Amino acid sequence: MPGILLRTLRGENLQARPVWLMRQAGRYLPEYRALRRQKGGFLALVYDTDAAAEITLQPIRRFGFDGAILFSDILIVPYAMGQDLQFLAGEGPHLSPPLVDTALASLHAVPERLTPIYETVAKVRSAFGSERTLLGFAGSPWTVATYMVAGEGSRDQQEARAMAYRDRSGFQAIIDAIVETTVTYLSGQIMAGAEAVQLFDSWAGSLAPREFERWVIAPNAAIVATLKARFPEVPVIGFPKGSGEKLAAYARETGVDALGLDETIDPLWVARTLPASMPVQGNLDPLLVLAGGDELDKAVQAILAAFADRPHVFNLGHGIDQHTPITHVERLLALVRA
Ligand code: CP3
Repeated sequence: MPGILLRTLRGENLQARPVWLMRQAGRYLPEYRALRRQKGGFLALVYDTDAAAEITLQPIRRFGFDGAILFSDILIVPYAMGQDLQFLAGEGPHLSPPLVDTALASLHAVPERLTPIYETVAKVRSAFGSERTLLGFAGSPWTVATYMVAGEGSRDQQEARAMAYRDRSGFQAIIDAIVETTVTYLSGQIMAGAEAVQLFDSWAGSLAPREFERWVIAPNAAIVATLKARFPEVPVIGFPKGSGEKLAAYARETGVDALGLDETIDPLWVARTLPASMPVQGNLDPLLVLAGGDELDKAVQAILAAFADRPHVFNLGHGIDQHTPITHVERLLALVRA
């Protein structure tokens, strides 16, 4: 029998609500910080497949979440497309050369950079019973492109948005190349044992409506269509953060099975707008888990009640903050499972 997370993503409205948290494997866990110190850096952890499998499992051991998300990063795709990748302490990721001043065609793909990630998936899979679900993931083409173009995180994604206007066919070529690598990458994760996958579009919210159609909806629809043809039984969760009312078109047009909701989305809007059978995931404000107390309790109850009529995976509206106390996560879990 598949676990409750997979069953919910496939459209069953179960009384027990499955729960996992975005960024559940990471710096708020002392056991993560210890292993990271020992291995010397984030990329070293990702490419040590025993360590990466261990980190994927750490939050499961500690909290018993219903799903484990592969420990890796969305920027492994640009790394495999031939950009150099570094995570500098306190600075976030750097990709070089940035595509704002280097042609895509001058990159030399390094597909072997994807292979260890599949090995991590297989290691986690073999350590795992069927009552829990192993989630693979990738970034969505728009969000990945914002990093590839600017070479780093950027305010308002200015460089990528400007390039998309200035050089539409050049930017389209970047998006198309990311789509192709992403399909390869997610297919590899699924063949290694991932049972569902999530597409993270953290910067979907920065686009004007027509741009959203072209750079968010169209490429995600292309990825989903290919995955569905190859792996019809594997649910795809789309998470276009910050999209607001554009979520309705995203849900209709991309073909995703389930929709990740950020904390700005009103469940009443969801009830009015999305098909009643569509599973949703979310959408507790991560800062409430950081803050704790009565407000956390009330918000968890309100979210459970608001989505009671449809398949619902309990999660946050974005990744868990690194300073979140463990006791607040325990409290959240106790409330969801009560
Ligand atoms: O637990 C999980 O959710 C699985 C692993 C995961 C990571 N990154 C690990 C990570 C996932 C799903 C991601 C997604 C990711 N990575 C996104 C999309 C979701 C989001 O959070 O918006 C983005 C935009 C990235 C790119 C990225 N990776 C940035 C901007 C940073 C640095 C910022 C920061 O928080 O330090 C990372 C590093 C990163 N990826 C860490 C982890 C645990 C922190 C690394 C460390 O210093 O230990």
